[in-house]
Amino acid sequence: MSEQLKKIQELIDLRAEARLGGGQKAIDKQHERGKFTARERIAQLLDEGSFEELDMFVRHRCTNFGQEKKSYPGDGVVTGFGTIEGRLVYVFAQDFTVFGGSLSETMALKICKVMDMAMRMGAPVIGLNDSGGARIQEGINALAGYAEIFQRNILASGVIPQISGILGPCAGGAVYSPALTDFTVMAKGISYMFLTGPKVVKTVTGEDVTQDQLGGAEVHASKSGVTHFAAEDGEDAIRIIRKLFSYIPQNNLEEAPVVECTDPIDRLEDYLNEIIPDSANRPYDMYKVIGAIVDNSEFLEIQRDYAKNIIIGFARFNGQSVGIVANQPKYLAGVLDSNASRKAARFVRFCDAFNIPLVTLVDVPGFLPGTGQEYNGVILHGAKLLYAYGEATVPKVTVTLRKSYGGSHIVMSCKQLRGDLNYAWPSAEIAVMGGAGAVEVLYAKEAKAAEDPKAVLAEKEAEYNKLFCNPYNAAKYGYIDDVIEPRNTRFRIIKALQTLATKKVMNPAKKHGNIPL
Ligand code: HXC
Repeated sequence: MSEQLKKIQELIDLRAEARLGGGQKAIDKQHERGKFTARERIAQLLDEGSFEELDMFVRHRCTNFGQEKKSYPGDGVVTGFGTIEGRLVYVFAQDFTVFGGSLSETMALKICKVMDMAMRMGAPVIGLNDSGGARIQEGINALAGYAEIFQRNILASGVIPQISGILGPCAGGAVYSPALTDFTVMAKGISYMFLTGPKVVKTVTGEDVTQDQLGGAEVHASKSGVTHFAAEDGEDAIRIIRKLFSYIPQNNLEEAPVVECTDPIDRLEDYLNEIIPDSANRPYDMYKVIGAIVDNSEFLEIQRDYAKNIIIGFARFNGQSVGIVANQPKYLAGVLDSNASRKAARFVRFCDAFNIPLVTLVDVPGFLPGTGQEYNGVILHGAKLLYAYGEATVPKVTVTLRKSYGGSHIVMSCKQLRGDLNYAWPSAEIAVMGGAGAVEVLYAKEAKAAEDPKAVLAEKEAEYNKLFCNPYNAAKYGYIDDVIEPRNTRFRIIKALQTLATKKVMNPAKKHGNIPL
């Protein structure tokens, strides 16, 4: 064998060694835990054969605690680039088989390298987390590594999309990288995220709690809102990431990919002409409206189990990606509260940052009253959504289906928040407040003095409803651009989006605004 061939063989052997990560035993253990390895996950995520690995020969430099005797080529993370449906993406996947995926100085350098490349190339970054946190043997250098990653997450925010898969432990300060990214996908049974684990919780608060109860996928999907998706398992999490990726553009200067639309754009949905119940207090299901109007009824819902009174997610109209925000009358009557406001606000800002038009479907009775909400700062949280809509410069199409009252009317993408096309169904009620509440304020004295107070109030309520609880009063002032037939909503939204395709609006130049966080 020639010297050159020997060297090539050496390369092949080194690569084979690197591909084994922490070794076959550790790989077997990872499988026993019900988890895939970093490389298996990347293979599931990217188009077949598209992965180009970087830094396979990087090793940690730590000499504390005899670490110099234990090192693995590539260290605890697999990094590189590849494609999803042909589109470039940068990836890193923490390798739990190497020191439990714990973050070393060199691991951080590897991750920062792909993040920097993604920024230069204007391509998204997907990080797959599965790590025991800071590599304890490396002390402050591991912490510095985290901080370097966080700084890059922050600078990349709003420039390139960042998606985090949590496919194992993610604890302590390590949780802040996913928290800074745009979307987090956890998997039931294998993922958990918390700042302090069950043992510390027990010591500090005396509370007995399991890892899953404290920071499992279901908990973060329903109670904290920390994760956007709770996948069934690791493979499902990767599927969700791929799907999510299909709706978003490469960077803040590009548009999301347009797919071929096989669903007729002028499809009439007669069903929508009868969906609004006769009684204003009876709910209907907003999912049915969304399903009826978007392409092929396909809707990728985000934060499905959190603040269910508002629905957010991606869909397409005539092949074009849009962000949908919709009140859900079936849950808490679609009222806006702190959590719903925060949930929708972050989504609106993501869509605006990445040139994804917003379609808002309104049926909102108002903000949830009470000390619970006020003490919780609903004023500030509601203001977040108001701010998000008001600063958004992407095309904004709003359809008011039924209720749109008071402050919540303004917050839900009204005309004065630079709504581009604001439509209403004939069933819309756009007013300062509902009839019953309004006459209580206006006619309390008259009612008290009358022989039959109820009759006075009922008469005044009917008068108020006739005057205000309709779309025409708002349409009279041009606050509603047109009153449309419900069954024609899909077509009208598509026409609106087509005409708004060339929209150009710039906000005043500034360092950044001061959103009420
Ligand atoms: C070094 C670590 C490690 C770490 C795990 N390992 N975490 N090595 N630093 N942080 C090693 C283990 O020693 C073990 O090595 C291998 O990884 C697999 O771990 P196991 O414990 O066998 O796995 P499992 O039973 O599945 O438990 C996983 C785990 C547990 C729950 C993550 O390992 C654990 O509690 N690790 C410590 C977590 C932690 O306290 N991290 C530091 C937090 S402070 P061998 O050689 O036996 O296979 C922090 C600050 C971040 O992260 C701040 C950022 C700003």
